[in-house]
Amino acid sequence: VDYTLEVDPTRTGARIDDSMYGVFYEDINRAADGGLYAELVQNRSFEYDPADHASYTPLSSWQTSGTADVVNDSGRLHERNRNYLKLGGGSSVTNSGYNTGFAVQKGKRYDFSLWARTDAGAAVTVSLGDAAGSLAEAGRISARGGWTKYKLSFTATRTSTTGRMTVATDRPAALDMISLFPRDTYKGRANGLRKDLAEKIAALDPGFLRFPGGCLVNTGSHEAYEESSGWQRKRSYQWKDTIGPVEQRPTNANFWGYNQSYGLGYYEYFLFAEDTGAMPLPVVPALVTGCGQNKATDDPALLRRHIQDTLDLIEFANGPVTSTWGAKRAAMGHPKPFGLTHIEVGNEENLPEEFFARFKEFRAAIEAKHPGITVISNSGPDDAGPTFDKAWQLNREAKVAMVDEHYYNSPQWFLENNNRYDSYDRNGPEVFLGEYASLGNTHYNALAEAAFMTSLERNADVVKLASYAPLLANKDAVQWRPDMIWFDNARSWGSANYEMQKLFMTNVGDEVVPSAASATPVLSGPIKGAVGLSTWATSAAYDDVQVTDAEGKTLLSDDFSAGDGQWTKAAGTGSWSVQDGAYVQSDESAENTLVTAGDASWQNYDLKVKATKKSG
Ligand code: AHR
Repeated sequence: VDYTLEVDPTRTGARIDDSMYGVFYEDINRAADGGLYAELVQNRSFEYDPADHASYTPLSSWQTSGTADVVNDSGRLHERNRNYLKLGGGSSVTNSGYNTGFAVQKGKRYDFSLWARTDAGAAVTVSLGDAAGSLAEAGRISARGGWTKYKLSFTATRTSTTGRMTVATDRPAALDMISLFPRDTYKGRANGLRKDLAEKIAALDPGFLRFPGGCLVNTGSHEAYEESSGWQRKRSYQWKDTIGPVEQRPTNANFWGYNQSYGLGYYEYFLFAEDTGAMPLPVVPALVTGCGQNKATDDPALLRRHIQDTLDLIEFANGPVTSTWGAKRAAMGHPKPFGLTHIEVGNEENLPEEFFARFKEFRAAIEAKHPGITVISNSGPDDAGPTFDKAWQLNREAKVAMVDEHYYNSPQWFLENNNRYDSYDRNGPEVFLGEYASLGNTHYNALAEAAFMTSLERNADVVKLASYAPLLANKDAVQWRPDMIWFDNARSWGSANYEMQKLFMTNVGDEVVPSAASATPVLSGPIKGAVGLSTWATSAAYDDVQVTDAEGKTLLSDDFSAGDGQWTKAAGTGSWSVQDGAYVQSDESAENTLVTAGDASWQNYDLKVKATKKSG
């Protein structure tokens, strides 16, 4: 079939902002520790806790020899860094790193540091090796006195991806924050980012960096990390926990079911945005807990504190060095302001009324103190439906500047919804498409996204920002797929979707030239795509979840026994159309196969979901 495309160069369409395409970074799939954050030692401060993950202990990823006890007493290094290691004379501990172990490259430098307290004085020996032998000449520290930071540096004599690091002492010593970083981080920064991953993100030329996450931000307790609240774990992402010296940052139990060290924190995110030329776009919790934990926090004092924290965040980013929080930024090494212009309050809020009551208070306080800042709201977790409609109604009534929409759907959905924004109200709020992906990492998925992105550009007068999600996945800790960039401890690779994003992101046009096609090409033949069903069922609220077909055959089940932080495979009720229903992705696994490939025709699947709620 021949199609004609008419282009009229005398007419101009929407202008496309340089910041149109950006990245959404979330610490999901172990994207931070063992991922973008270049630290090679896992559980460096002995803070792993069963509250973070059922399998954790304070000695997780450490092997001990001799006397090695983790203690939590007043002799600690810092109030917010609760545990430390007591190592007996003639004893040692060995860290196994992330994934298969420490990845080191022959000839490269590695910077080691630890904090030690030892009354008697001790000789501490540090060595790197793997099953084949030594990976660097051992280093030695003479430690004496109260808590002091000691440093060493190593040059790797061999390349390995299975390295281990052993720390031994001849006399009793208290140790904490045992750390090893490659010197060669992104832009050579101390406490920096893994170079290959950061470079892949930078190669996208992101217009903005949305951070530090979606569900990671607005879930859990909104209390502070302090004694009065029982040294809360499972807290929402509270930015003040994540700045200052790394040994003074409390760790947290991540919504996605693991410990987050906060070594990669707000300062590092702002720096990364600056280094990549991206506009920083932080998301703060709105005190309505989302992502399946739907609960509005009814505590005016707590709300006031979070609003004040948000004002302080803006001061941290933009304030002069003479201001309280601007001074903290300067003390960390960045006297120049970061130039924050946008901030998002809340993520995927499922309780629109409750959210809006709180959002408006945040916005009023921000606008009163920082009138130049754009405060972004959201439309909940769906691409349509009653919650979505209600949220949009409230957004419009409140004259919100910009609304964040999220959706993860089949490639077919993206093709069928190319006209989604053509009818959006040009006098209403602007759109931030903060998270989207077609469900798979195949070329077909990337093409469906590309087709959809042309519609975003056609509507660039109303769609102002867009980012694919999620960005990163450690291949040994995948909780959500598809993802844009995959990695293990030594390698990383971009998906087809990554290459497609890069194509668009590094070739952002200035304005759209209106065009019209004589017809819409019809796709025929077998199409591989993904079945996109999702709901929220978290291990916090449910004992097990099961999806069955009309005959009662189990298609998917999850009893959370592995301690999954989040169940994302499939759920929902009703029927869905599935074409050639293979769940195709770059990292195929049987547990994600809903229906098998083979039938190229459309079919309806009646699926049932049974979720057993935890008692109490
Ligand atoms: O991108 C993964 C998750 O998807 C985000 O945390 C959440 O905002 C969305 O539901």
